[in-house]
Amino acid sequence: MTVLGVVSSVATRRRPGAWVFAAGAVAAALAVSCAGGTRLQLDDKAARGRDVAESAGCAGCHGGDDAPATVGPSWNGSWGSEVVLDDGTRVLFDEEFVISSVRTPDLQRRKGDWLHMPAFTAEQISDTELADVIAYLIALGEL
Ligand code: HEC
Repeated sequence: MTVLGVVSSVATRRRPGAWVFAAGAVAAALAVSCAGGTRLQLDDKAARGRDVAESAGCAGCHGGDDAPATVGPSWNGSWGSEVVLDDGTRVLFDEEFVISSVRTPDLQRRKGDWLHMPAFTAEQISDTELADVIAYLIALGEL
């Protein structure tokens, strides 16, 4: 007999309604947590990246999985797409582009009327934190 089977038969023997009630409570709890927002289910690395993006201030400009972008380009759906730069060249939104955009933002400016993105040094956001943010951006690419 499975673990679930044991639990359910014990529950049924003690109080027939208890198991059904418990299942209903679980379903209600899930419905509440889903209705709360569109937060993505992330693996540990991407979840750490989301925390970094929020605490370092990136999310305030770029938005995220539950907030729209304000002054920066939205990250949602960007991973793997082509970005047109102000000199007309095109680059892939990939790891190299993200690192360059964070460390030396003015080297590759997006075409259009954008504010300048502030540079972040390794003291402000470490290479490991940036790698976590990249994992988060990959997840946001699915949106
Ligand atoms: C004050 C607002 C602001 C903050 C904070 C900010 N950015 Fe930006 N970011 C911008 C703007 C504006 C651009 C576009 C500027 C340009 O192309 O010259 C940009 C461009 C980028 C790009 C290139 C994306 C593209 O589609 O062109 C990436 C990647 C990026 N930012 C990542 C980050 C990360 C990671 C952080 C946090 C460590 C961060 N940004 C913090 C405003 C911001």
